[in-house]
Amino acid sequence: MCGIVGYIGDRNVIPVLIGGLQKLEYRGYDSAGIAYLDDGRMTLYKEKGKLAGLEKMVAGKCAEHTVGIGHTRWATHGEPNQKNAHPHINEAGDLAIVHNGIIENYLQLREWLTRKGVSFVSETDTEIIAHLIAYYLKDDLKEAVSQAISKLKGSYALGVICERFPDEIVAVRKDSPLVVGVGKNENLIASDIPAILEYTRDVYFLNNGEIAVVKKDEVMLYDEVLNPVNRDVFTVEWDVSQAEKAGYPHFMLKEIEEQPRALADTLNPRVKDGEINFDEIGIDDAMLAGIRKITIIACGTAYHASYVGKYIIERFARVPVEVEIASEFRYKNPIIDQDNFVIVVSQSGETADTIAALREAKSRGAFVLAIANVVGSTIAREADKVLYTRAGLEIAVASTKAYTTQLMALYMFALKLAYAKGGITKEEYHTYVAELQKVPENAEKVIQNKELLQKFAYEHFTEHSVFYIGRGLDYAMAMEGSLKLKEISYIHSEAYAGGELKHGTIALVEEGTLVVAVLTQGDLIEKCLSNVKEVTSRGAVVMVVTQEKYQDLVKDVADKIVTVPDAIDFEATITSIIPMQIFAYYMSVQKGCDVDKPRNLAKSVTVE
Ligand code: F6R
Repeated sequence: MCGIVGYIGDRNVIPVLIGGLQKLEYRGYDSAGIAYLDDGRMTLYKEKGKLAGLEKMVAGKCAEHTVGIGHTRWATHGEPNQKNAHPHINEAGDLAIVHNGIIENYLQLREWLTRKGVSFVSETDTEIIAHLIAYYLKDDLKEAVSQAISKLKGSYALGVICERFPDEIVAVRKDSPLVVGVGKNENLIASDIPAILEYTRDVYFLNNGEIAVVKKDEVMLYDEVLNPVNRDVFTVEWDVSQAEKAGYPHFMLKEIEEQPRALADTLNPRVKDGEINFDEIGIDDAMLAGIRKITIIACGTAYHASYVGKYIIERFARVPVEVEIASEFRYKNPIIDQDNFVIVVSQSGETADTIAALREAKSRGAFVLAIANVVGSTIAREADKVLYTRAGLEIAVASTKAYTTQLMALYMFALKLAYAKGGITKEEYHTYVAELQKVPENAEKVIQNKELLQKFAYEHFTEHSVFYIGRGLDYAMAMEGSLKLKEISYIHSEAYAGGELKHGTIALVEEGTLVVAVLTQGDLIEKCLSNVKEVTSRGAVVMVVTQEKYQDLVKDVADKIVTVPDAIDFEATITSIIPMQIFAYYMSVQKGCDVDKPRNLAKSVTVE
C-alpha cells in the first residue's frame, strides 16, 4: 500500500503531485506529504490524515521548472502522525525519499546508523533509507541509491530527490509497484498509472531491482548492477475519465453500475462461434485436457471469487480444485509440483502475498495462469499466461466490478475446461456460453432495482451484526456479501454455510437479528430454507436474495425478498452478488462512512 508519485518538468510541481496523490489515495490515507526543490532548496510539507489536510497546507504555492515527490501513506511501522508521514529526509535535510513497502531489517540498520551517529526523528522503517542513501552519497545519486538498497531486506518502491542533483529523480523498485511516465519535456514516476495519466499514456514498467534515473528530457533504466537496460515503452489504453467519478457521489456506486459493461467486455471478445476462445491468451483445449489438479490462490474478495471457481470447475470439469489464501499458501511448504495447474486471481496484480504465492508455485514447477485486472502488473508479468478481466480501473477500495469480472473469467475458464475434458457436451457448452452472454443484461436489471435496496438499507443501517447464509455457490456469495458490508459500513458480519450455523454461530442470533439468506440454487433451496427457519424461529429478520422463479418458494419465510433475473442456476450466481453490493453501499452511505476509503484499508495490499 501507500502511493508514491514524482514529477520533473516545467509545470508547477505542487498541483501535479497533489493531483497524482488524489488518484493514489485509494492506496492509503493515513497521512500525506510532498517534497520539492524550491529555488534549489528542499521544501517539505506533510500532514496527518487524508490528503485534504495537505492540500490546504500547500494551496496557492507555486514551484515551476523543478522536481518533486509525493506520498500517501497506509501506516505499517509507526502510528499515522505527521512525524511518520513521508517524505523522509536525511539529517542535512537536502535529500528526500518516498517509499512504498516494508523494510524487514530496518531495526538492525537503524542500530547500525545510530552507532554511526545518525539520529532519527520518526518511528518508520523508511527513514533509515534516507540516511543510508546520504551515507553512501558521493557524486552519483543512483550509485548511492544502489548501495543503499543492497543493504535492504523487504519490499520497496522508492522515489529520491536531492538538492545536489536538482535535475533528476532516482526511482527503484523491488516487490512494490512503480511505473515511469514518459512525457514531452517532463517525466513522472508513480505507484500506479492513474496518477500520471493526465500527462502521458507512455510508461515503462520497472522490473524488480531496476533503477530509473528520471530527468526532464530523458529516462535511463539500469539493472541491479547499474548496467543500462533497454525497454519498450508501453502505451496505456485507458481513458482518464475512468479515474473520475463522472457525477456519481462515490466511485463504488459508479463501479457497481459499470458492471454490465465490464462483464460484457470480459466475456464477449472471447466468444467465437458460441465457444470460449483463449487464443489471445495462448491456452488451447489440448493443454486444458491434460490438467489433473488445480490450485487457485488469492486474497480477500479475489479469494471469494476463487471459491466460486472451485465449485464450477469441480462440478463441470470434475477436476479437483484447492482454494488457498495466498498468505497461508506461501508459508505452508505447499504440496505443489509440475502436475499442478495454478490460477492466481488478483485485481491489482500487486498483492504482495499473491505475488509471493505465485513465485512459490512457479519455483516448484507449476504452470501459473493469472486472472488479473491491471495490465502489466507484477502478477500479470510473472505468470505463465494471463487472462485479463476487463473491469477497467477500479478505484473504490471495496471491490465490485473486479469481483464480478473475476467470476466471469473463472466461469469462462471452467466451461472451456469442462468441454475440453469431456465433462459437458457441445450442446451444453453452447447453451451455457449463450446464457453467460445474458449476464450483463441481467446485471443491468438488478441495478435498476437499487431503490428497493436503498430502502432496506435505510431500515437496517443501525444493525450491530448481520449474518449471511447460503449453501454451495450461495455460500460463496454470502462470504463476499458479508465482506462488502463489514468493510465499508463497519457493521460486524459473518458468513456461514447454511448447514453450519447450528454448530455454534446460531447462539448469536436473537430477536431482530438481520440475516441475509442467499437462495438462488434450486437444488439447495429446500435445505437452506430449513436453515432460514432455524433463525426465524429465534426471532431473526430475514432478507432473501433469490431468482424471480423461486420467489414463491421463499415468500413464507422471508421478511424481505430481493430478486435477480432468472437464469440457469449456476450462472445466476454472478448477478446475485450485486444486490448485496448495493445494500452494503447504502448501509455505508446512511451511516455516514467514507464509502470509497474505508478506515484501515487500502486498495492494493503491497505489504505482506
Ligand atoms: C475487498 C477487496 C480486497 C481485495 C484483496 C486482494 O473489497 O477488494 O479483499 O480483493 O485485497 O486484492 P487483489 O485482487 O488486488 O489481489
